[in-house]
Amino acid sequence: MYNSKITGLGHYVPENVVTNNDLKEFMDTSDEWIQERTGIKERRWIDPKTEDTTAVMGVKAARIAIEKAGLTKDDIDFIVFATLSPDMYFPGGGVQVQEMLDMPTIGALDIRNQCSGFIYAMSVADQFIKTGMYKNVLVIGSENHSGGLDKSTRGRNVSVIFGDGAGAAVLSRSEEEGKGILSSHLHSEGKHAKELALLGPSTGKWVPEILEKNDPDDVSYFPYMNGQFVFKHAVTRFSEAIIEGLAANNLQKEDISMLIPHQANLRIAQFIQKKFQLSDDKVFNNIQKYGNTTAASVIIALTEAFEEGKIKDNDLVVLAAFGSGFTWGSVIIRW
Ligand code: ACO
Repeated sequence: MYNSKITGLGHYVPENVVTNNDLKEFMDTSDEWIQERTGIKERRWIDPKTEDTTAVMGVKAARIAIEKAGLTKDDIDFIVFATLSPDMYFPGGGVQVQEMLDMPTIGALDIRNQCSGFIYAMSVADQFIKTGMYKNVLVIGSENHSGGLDKSTRGRNVSVIFGDGAGAAVLSRSEEEGKGILSSHLHSEGKHAKELALLGPSTGKWVPEILEKNDPDDVSYFPYMNGQFVFKHAVTRFSEAIIEGLAANNLQKEDISMLIPHQANLRIAQFIQKKFQLSDDKVFNNIQKYGNTTAASVIIALTEAFEEGKIKDNDLVVLAAFGSGFTWGSVIIRW
């Protein structure tokens, strides 16, 4: 059996920086509240006057990842695209990438697993490579949250957290033993689906009903989050996913060189860091400048950590995420 390893990484965030103080123009909030509860100082929100969309940002990140892998778009065998904010209700973002990058008619798959989206996407790509079916898989996580948030005081508990951006990785076939993706671990618990969800645009509320009601107070078109409930589950499930990944490879927490947690809330990441007794140089966070970019968060953080020289050959890198679904998981990588 083959192994898969990351051969190229790339990320893209919109230029438009929105600070916590900028948000005060639309809602009753404060820099102090946001920083104290989440660690976020600013986020990127797409300027609607620009060309950026979920697919366009994904393509920008993908171009960099393919180039860094030393490949061309024609070397890619399959696309896996993770997002909760596709440009269209259907089809998904993967086919847009295939078209925008002018690729051959390769397969393109969309992953709908929200904050765990990139973990799921990497796991899917890894399986295709391990079985020998594909050689190079392009994995993208991209989100345009700003287009769908309630930016009034009514939606402030959710909207201050989320940011836009994209990241991409090329996973390639490798025959090096014990290197690359060692294992991935995926979980779900659908009974909590409505604790963090966007209920409006669905077949449960279909177009004729929307047109008929035209109700400006219908908040089901904005994301809903039971924040404290989600927080409590996040800290438990993050830890479980990391422990499971380490145990599967006969590793201990002391073996971790770099933990990249999904950037949901700096307080969650700090809780996990303390629990696993990891020093500051072994956990990478960038939520301070990007907020929570959902399916893009882990891959943007991984790319930045790598570019900043914080990940070296042979390091044990642990990726972990938790989010809406609930879904959660981890990926264990020997770099
Ligand atoms: N500015 C000022 N005040 C605010 C804001 C804001 N932006 N938002 C809420 N408040 C107020 C509330 O109105 C409330 O006031 P009250 O006590 O007078 O009623 C108070 O602050 C506390 O509100 P909570 O919603 O209870 O705030 P909480 O302490 O839970 O923090 C937060 C909210 C940051 C969202 C936190 O719950 C959290 O991080 N949860 C987990 C998020 C997460 O992990 N998500 C998973 C990934 S996301 C995905 O999968 C898509």
